[in-house]
Amino acid sequence: MDSIIVTGGVELDGQIPIAGAKNACLALMPATLLSDEPLTLTNAPRLSDIKTMTVLLQSLGAEVTSMQGGRVLALSSHDLNNLTADYDIVRKMRASNLVLGPLLARAGRAVVSLPGGCAIGARPMDLHIDGLTALGAEIELRDGYLHAVAPKGLKGAVIEQRFASVGATENIVMAATLAKGTTVLRNAAREPEIVDLVKCLSAMGARIEGEGTGEIRIEGVDRLHGATHAVVADRIELGTYMIAPAIAGGSLELLGGRRDLLPAFCEKLEATGVTITETNSGLKVARANGRVHAVDVKTEVFPGFPTDLQAQMMALLCTADGVSVLEETIFENRFMHAPELMRMGAAIEVHGGHATVTGVDRLRGAPVMATDLRASVSLILAGLGAEGETVVNRVYHLDRGYERVEEKLSACGARIERVRGE
Ligand code: UD1
Repeated sequence: MDSIIVTGGVELDGQIPIAGAKNACLALMPATLLSDEPLTLTNAPRLSDIKTMTVLLQSLGAEVTSMQGGRVLALSSHDLNNLTADYDIVRKMRASNLVLGPLLARAGRAVVSLPGGCAIGARPMDLHIDGLTALGAEIELRDGYLHAVAPKGLKGAVIEQRFASVGATENIVMAATLAKGTTVLRNAAREPEIVDLVKCLSAMGARIEGEGTGEIRIEGVDRLHGATHAVVADRIELGTYMIAPAIAGGSLELLGGRRDLLPAFCEKLEATGVTITETNSGLKVARANGRVHAVDVKTEVFPGFPTDLQAQMMALLCTADGVSVLEETIFENRFMHAPELMRMGAAIEVHGGHATVTGVDRLRGAPVMATDLRASVSLILAGLGAEGETVVNRVYHLDRGYERVEEKLSACGARIERVRGE
């Protein structure tokens, strides 16, 4: 398995292009299942999670052609010949569950394995099931698979989510595009990836209003047609690379970055003493000399501080001047990076959903283990500011969500390399 070796202590300087959003693309790809006409996605990220979704869609009979080195995906679901999302594919990635809503809407039937994905909590599917059931589906769990049928077709309904789940919102919105009548989804997720999905569905002929707010209204239509859609910028990749100069010093310009994708995160980063400037091509982030300030962070649904940037922020706060408290409210088991950071000399205490980080002068390089996607990149970030060499092992999680991380950072001066494993 590959490892990444980072030698800390080098200031960063340069530009990093931000790729299309993994999480948006993973919801956009299954939208192909809603139509028998082609869907083209541009600005797709080149990631192993995208390959996993490709394999899943192909297993259902969809055609997925990767063009321009993976930047453009041409999808067509003219002939679907299988309505079962198999455990062997779904266990690799939780987002596989996003085929459930579209398959049900298009074919009236779907069998989807319960998902796997990062080990960051229970991550059940009750909100997906409740929402689709409200639209008229009958769903049963048998042998680890959800068996869903809509014998009379889907029918619009008023649905109130107990929590604004991103995935459940995506599944319900996609299913409702082909339901009979109007669906109103209350307490809908407001993440930019939802807005991007709705933009694409609207280009395919769906009638949707209210995306980006807590109430989305969908008027069902008889059929959706083909479209071409450009995937929105990856705000988590953006936030990750915004933290890099905050840890290593120097400055980086993140091409394609936008403040409105990360409002709460930008405020917190500025509170640590880092400067963020809007440029013609994106955002420029710089850290002056001296330590950053401690800040308290609470993860929340959009527009709050994203849980997917909590590990990276913790890496920064390890060397802040003072004590920071990070509160994780979205996932119950998402501090697995803390013990690894402590091996590098960080002072962190975890109590349930809270982590107290007492800033130290400097971290020291160490061999560390990547436990999940965002945790692995937080260890790389920590390594950029640490004394000596950090070896991040088990980086396969990293390749699920970050495109060529070592190339992007080394182009800006970082001493980072990938060592190929068996
Ligand atoms: C998506 C993102 C993930 C991000 C998360 C929260 C994708 C592919 N992944 O994941 O990177 O960390 O949003 O921003 O877009 N929950 C339930 N019942 C459900 C569904 C979810 O209780 O039916 C709970 C989960 O256990 C979790 C919380 O809701 O505690 C958030 O989950 P959700 O918003 O659904 O996240 P995902 O869509 O899985």
